[in-house]
Amino acid sequence: MDPKKVPQHIAIIMDGNGRWAKKRMLPRIAGHKEGSESVRAVLKACAEFGVKYLTLYAFSTENWRRPDEEVDFLMGLFSQTIDNEIEELMENEVKLKFLGRLEKFSPGLKKKMREAMEKTKNNKRITLNVMVNYGGRAEIVDALNEIIASGEKGADEDLINKHLYTRGMPDPDLLIRTASEMRVSNFLLWQIAYAEIYVTAALWPDFRREELIKAIEDFQKRVRKFGKTKEQIDAA
Ligand code: IPE
Ligand code: IPE
Ligand code: MG
Repeated sequence: MDPKKVPQHIAIIMDGNGRWAKKRMLPRIAGHKEGSESVRAVLKACAEFGVKYLTLYAFSTENWRRPDEEVDFLMGLFSQTIDNEIEELMENEVKLKFLGRLEKFSPGLKKKMREAMEKTKNNKRITLNVMVNYGGRAEIVDALNEIIASGEKGADEDLINKHLYTRGMPDPDLLIRTASEMRVSNFLLWQIAYAEIYVTAALWPDFRREELIKAIEDFQKRVRKFGKTKEQIDAA
């Protein structure tokens, strides 16, 4: 891995927790629990490598369709993880953001999320975006409604960027999806316009430092052309 060519922003669709558990004849929730260890490991490695933004898809607007007990477990896991990790996030200078339609969460969880964001807001080493009750389409709808409410007469790309949940952040350079699935599942539809996509068979609970290094190494072999020709890129 070339330490000088590390992506500035990595986004991850963390998938395969259920399959990880099934392979071990464990309940699906055991996969989510083990997956939270991967979040720790990947965040730590990203901070070490100098990644500035890590954006994790933790719960989609569609995931409410899952069995109640699984949804409840995930809500509890978010809450518990905030409690357990907040001090370490402070020590490691991580700015934590929960992005999505937070209004749908319980008052207690919402409060915890807001307090964690407030507490870590001046941290500068790395920004960790945890996308919860997040949908790429919902985000664009929310942005458009804000724009309309502000009385703007028209929009351009810059204005839309300024109203996304990710306002002020660069777009992801690298989008990782674990557990082999070749789809975007309503994640960051606007922001991944030019992201390099990496899909791995590794299940999220097995995706740790080594797997992250493999993804970054793969990214470093890509030629990002942004619409130009290979010759133009080589000449630059
Ligand atoms: C990803 O793992 C975690 C969430 C979507 C919350 P899954 O729970 O989707 O795992 P699989 O796809 O069933 O293996
Ligand atoms: C996407 O994973 C959502 C998260 C990782 C939070 P899913 O497992 O829900 O996606 P689909 O349903 O297989 O597309
Ligand atoms: Mg899945």
